[in-house]
Amino acid sequence: MARPEWANWNGTEMPLSEVRVSVTDRAYFFGDGVYEVFRVYNGQMFLERPHFTRLRDSLAQLRIVTDVERLERRVRETLAHSGVREGQVYLQISRGEAPRSHSFPNPPVTPNELIYVREYDKDPYAAYRAAGIRVLLVPDLRWKRCDIKSLNLLGNVLASQAADEAGCQEAIMMLEDGTITEGSHSTVFGVRGGALVTAPLEANILPGITRKLVLELADRCGIPVKEQPFIASSLHELDELFVTSTIAEVLPIIEIASHTWKADQPGPVTRRLQVAYREYVVSAVGTATH
Ligand code: PDD
Repeated sequence: MARPEWANWNGTEMPLSEVRVSVTDRAYFFGDGVYEVFRVYNGQMFLERPHFTRLRDSLAQLRIVTDVERLERRVRETLAHSGVREGQVYLQISRGEAPRSHSFPNPPVTPNELIYVREYDKDPYAAYRAAGIRVLLVPDLRWKRCDIKSLNLLGNVLASQAADEAGCQEAIMMLEDGTITEGSHSTVFGVRGGALVTAPLEANILPGITRKLVLELADRCGIPVKEQPFIASSLHELDELFVTSTIAEVLPIIEIASHTWKADQPGPVTRRLQVAYREYVVSAVGTATH
């Protein structure tokens, strides 16, 4: 059995179940804050540097001021004290606590900083990585700054719930003109004529850390990459589809619900990237236990 989540709340470590926060936290009222999710392999945070760089960007965009270097040390300490070898770290920073009023509190208040470490009994996506997943196409109902990793995730929550209810493991979101943006909590890739296709980095998608690594791995494997918009009506041109995220890694899609696109099994390019990904993990953190 996995041990209970171990947390750090504003510098004090305790079980996550013991953390208490005021209802006047602006994350509660407005979703006014940012977050990051790190994968832990072999007791180490994977791709720690790019995650903290993205965190800095998100904080800067929302003008939340905090000491990220101190947070980095705190995250590492909390992970070490948790004893977790395989799992994930969640980090959330809200603007802080203040009486409800839309504009920023003036004078500014101290941000609330939550870290917790979750242990995995087993990799939650291992079986799906092997067999592939079914996805649902849904309208992208989100705001126009999806490049910020903010706590405002209602569009993503509704998309993910719709996928669950359709017996799918992820929702793929599209704009009104059919442009595919991203998954509810993942980046979307296609394979067309041996080349990878993925949406360019614009304000309507998150700059995925896994996306960047997969593009580098593709390059090393000699797989051409096209960062260009792709449209729902041209899905039939794709030979393979997969999604990526910190937690899911490279996750093949084998079926789109209520759509003609279907694959018998995960495709060869997806499989190659899965192998390259795992090799990269091992090179970065030593042997991953699962
Ligand atoms: N989600 N797009 C969205 C909307 C996401 O929420 C995520 C990750 C990604 C992939 O980003 P990355 O490769 O940096 O993990 C893309 C995290 C894991 C989450 O919300 O739990």
